[in-house]
Amino acid sequence: MAIVERHKQELERSAAPRDRAPSVIEFRGVSKNYGPTNGGLETASFSIQRGEFVFLVGSTGSGKSTLMKLLIKEIEPTAGTIRVAGRDLSEITRKKVPYYRRNIGIVFQDFKLLPDRTVYDNVAYALQVTGSSRKEIRAKVPDILRLTGLATKLHSFPDQLSGGEQQRVAVARAFVNHPPLLLADEPTGNLDPETSVGIMQLLYRINRTGTTVLVATHDATMVDRMRRRVLELHQGRLVRDELDAQYARADMNTAEFGALLREPSPEPKRGPQADRQRERDAAREARDEFDDIFPTDERP
Ligand SMILES: Nc1ncnc2c1ncn2[C@@H]1O[C@H](COP(=O)(O)OP(=O)(O)OP(=O)(O)O)[C@@H](O)[C@H]1O
Ligand SMILES: [Mg+2]
Repeated sequence: MAIVERHKQELERSAAPRDRAPSVIEFRGVSKNYGPTNGGLETASFSIQRGEFVFLVGSTGSGKSTLMKLLIKEIEPTAGTIRVAGRDLSEITRKKVPYYRRNIGIVFQDFKLLPDRTVYDNVAYALQVTGSSRKEIRAKVPDILRLTGLATKLHSFPDQLSGGEQQRVAVARAFVNHPPLLLADEPTGNLDPETSVGIMQLLYRINRTGTTVLVATHDATMVDRMRRRVLELHQGRLVRDELDAQYARADMNTAEFGALLREPSPEPKRGPQADRQRERDAAREARDEFDDIFPTDERP
């Protein structure tokens, strides 16, 4: 409880005049009941600030995917208010949902790649549907494939790739538009531990560019090692919202981060006070880079 209080105080303090930007995600008393006896989510309240990397954990059926689907307006809440970048999602009409979703990168457990298109075309497709020009596509796709370690697989089809490579394509596709928010629902669910580390490193690298990242996962070991904020659901209720007591440094590079994930046991503490300050500074810098986020205007 003390940790939750401290986190709340930090969030309040960080709402100083220069960064009074709204939370990227805010849930206030949000419920989703699929039927009279079937609750998916029960009066959940929390907020996530810009630049945060947050895990959503909980056993099967606890409501993780429900929360993700609410965020992309695939389903509507039965009660409560959801705001994304300050905007009440109930005010976004059906017609505007596609424009709203352009601001969100989405990665699923089962990749959802187009089987009859190459790696290059799977990623390019995400840009085509948002109306990018050919020139933009030619410039952006190779960049993102390099970032995701797929530069040599441009012409491969999904069934010629390993599970980890397919998931990399899914991440590349979700991030090629550089959305300010990335949601990943069990992105490592079907992958072996080492491949999972690679995907988490990739999400961490993306987070370091300023993108807010929310990852739903069963993988408790990975979550403990990454030492990020954890939201835990149990039967639709939010039962934990805390920063790990040994919150990791925000300034570590991707390789250091990978080493952290592979460690047999958590590292010794190294001055949590100083680490948190660094974390806040890095989050603030990231926020400053992304001033004008989440347009929902029609700009096909
Ligand atoms: N479309 C639906 N209709 C009825 N009930 C649903 C529907 N979708 C989910 N539920 C129920 O809501 C609850 C939460 O499901 P949800 O998919 O959010 O869980 P989850 O935490 O993502 O689980 P998993 O880890 O297995 O993916 C479950 O009891 C599930 O049966
Ligand atoms: Mg799920």
